[in-house]
Amino acid sequence: KSYRVAILGATGAVGTELLELLESRNFPVAELKLLASARSVGRSLRFKGEDLPVELVSDRTLENLDLVLASAGGSTSKTWAAIAVEKGAVVIDNSSAFRMNPEVPLVVPEVNPLAAANHQGIIANPNCTTILMSVAIWPLHQISPIKRIVVSTYQSASGAGAKAMAEVQTQASAILQGQEPVAEVLPYPLAFNLFPHNSPLNDLGYCEEEMKMVNETRKIFGDQQIRITATCIRVPVLRAHSEAINLEFANPFSADAAREILSHSPGVKLIEDWEKNYFPMPMEATGQDDVLVGRIRQDISHPCGLELWLSGDQIRKGAALNAVQIAELLVEKNLLQPAKAYVSSEK
Ligand code: A2P
Repeated sequence: KSYRVAILGATGAVGTELLELLESRNFPVAELKLLASARSVGRSLRFKGEDLPVELVSDRTLENLDLVLASAGGSTSKTWAAIAVEKGAVVIDNSSAFRMNPEVPLVVPEVNPLAAANHQGIIANPNCTTILMSVAIWPLHQISPIKRIVVSTYQSASGAGAKAMAEVQTQASAILQGQEPVAEVLPYPLAFNLFPHNSPLNDLGYCEEEMKMVNETRKIFGDQQIRITATCIRVPVLRAHSEAINLEFANPFSADAAREILSHSPGVKLIEDWEKNYFPMPMEATGQDDVLVGRIRQDISHPCGLELWLSGDQIRKGAALNAVQIAELLVEKNLLQPAKAYVSSEK
């Protein structure tokens, strides 16, 4: 069986990767529609040797679909996801619009594949930093429950979209030529610089990105008891995020045991050469499906603590690949079926 698929946000950083993954992973596509805003109408993108036109998302272009992979921002998803579901499609949404809705499964296939079975038309793809961290620490949580997570992120420009990636490159060449860098997409120049994630701050001083890591990880793990604190920083890297993670377990967990477990965990590649001081790097994680994990060591400040470091491609496993893996899971479990009751966009 093959399926009628649409990519909403096909011209974006994640959208173009979705297109590539549907082709390279040989997803059973009967027909593919590329949807975006009026700005992109007239463009075309290549899929399996054919140039497909980019069309404006509308009631009409969302007809007769089995699957919509949406990555066009929260407000676009809020406008169109419920309409696509009403018309019979299943939506895998990369935005934050539905992630914390109790009726919407939030899925990382390596962690909670079974959650997908309860979908009512929309399945949410988690935040990129949350996906990367979940893949790396879930196997450890299975052996000994994690009580507390302290995570610091080093997030690339790609998280803010294709325009932000281009902006960093322009800024870098401006600086190298002795000119002032111009920031239009991101709030400050990112080239040769870094700054805290610019999502809105709450009353406690945490930004939205940090609270996504807290709330989404708890939802994916099905564990509201884990204490999590995060500091999210944007760094001048193009497309892979890195994270320094401190874990506190209920009982002592040896670094060697963690290393052994992570050396054969799905979606994880262990990168550690202690003699060469060689560990995961965003430049090497770029284009790879696996989350690179390394520098696993005992926390010298706590008997039940472990430190680890990871880099993962934000656009791939952090977004497009996770969405396509969810789609593959739906196909495998025969769950790519129209919802009986659709989730209202009001929720
Ligand atoms: P467009 O290229 O037509 O603006 P990125 O995350 O790389 O910035 O990409 C965002 C994606 O979401 C692009 O494909 C963009 O299309 C699409 N998009 C943004 N706003 C809308 C909208 N209002 N309706 C449809 N697509 C949108």
